[in-house]
Amino acid sequence: MKIRTNALAGIALAATAALGLAACGSGSSAPAGSSAAGNGSSAGEITVYNAQHESLTKEWIDAFTAETGIKVTVRQGDDTEMSNQIVQEGQASPADVFLTENSPAMAQVENAGLFADVDKATVDQVPAEFRPSTNKWTGIAARSTVLVYDKNKISDDKLPKSMLDLANPEWKGKWAASPSGADFQAIVSALLELKGEAATEAWLKGMKENSKPYKGNSTAMKAVNAGEVDAALIYHYYYYGDQAKTGENSNNVTPFYFKNQDPGAFVSISGGGVLKSSKNAAAAQSFLKFITGKKGQEVLQKGTSFEYAVASDVPSNDKLVPLKELQAPTVDPAKLNSAKVTELMTQAGLL
Ligand SMILES: [Fe+2]
Repeated sequence: MKIRTNALAGIALAATAALGLAACGSGSSAPAGSSAAGNGSSAGEITVYNAQHESLTKEWIDAFTAETGIKVTVRQGDDTEMSNQIVQEGQASPADVFLTENSPAMAQVENAGLFADVDKATVDQVPAEFRPSTNKWTGIAARSTVLVYDKNKISDDKLPKSMLDLANPEWKGKWAASPSGADFQAIVSALLELKGEAATEAWLKGMKENSKPYKGNSTAMKAVNAGEVDAALIYHYYYYGDQAKTGENSNNVTPFYFKNQDPGAFVSISGGGVLKSSKNAAAAQSFLKFITGKKGQEVLQKGTSFEYAVASDVPSNDKLVPLKELQAPTVDPAKLNSAKVTELMTQAGLL
């Protein structure tokens, strides 16, 4: 009932916005610098290739369309599926905007020369630590690596000091991960950037020996919760999201943060960028500005994604350990190399 009311309110707002634009012609309610409504007939339409969680992007889109009247079509896929598609489509891509869960897929599209510069107004609302120095895309949210573990199986003094310890023999059969997922592969890309190829190869070899593969972070966490395995290396929001619901998949697990600039304290940046080939670049840029703006970031603060807010001085959800306390290692998100990670993980027999 409530959803229906909100949806109707959204439609009404969108209609009002569209009427407003048609009436004044100059598009005064469109974002500054926008020519999206320049033709005077509609507020425009954009296509988003979305690899972020579908529910989070839907929250962003609903609020954006309500405010601007710009309609958004979504094509859903995972990080590398979508980045590969964009690279393949090249100039002919119907995508105006690309959103990811993790930055390696953004780097891939950037390296293919397919992103336009992000508008300065957007760049200005995102701190430098959450975007690449090239400004070809920007951070839109962030997520932290975490080890969720069963306190009954692992006492505090037995917790690993570093993520690298999980490759040691004492961890054989004790931990889970979802190696086929973009989330986990982003963690490996950070390890590669921080410690180099030889160390990453060695760690992946240990991981192959020691870990149990699951498909999806939630499934890996569930396995810990059910007592199948002692710990799982995942992202933080799977835990907090489940806790905010029934806790049925996480009540028996505890999150442990490696901190200390460890590779296991990696904070991954979700990215957003506008394609150079966009036929509605102004509307696409205004979408990126919206999600990194106050209202967009408040979706992260107050919604159900439990991802970290990164822009416009909006605090993150107060259930989370503050980003500043995570002691994440410094990693340039533009340097993360998904192709090399896939190669190394395949060599190690993990993919
Ligand atoms: Fe995820």
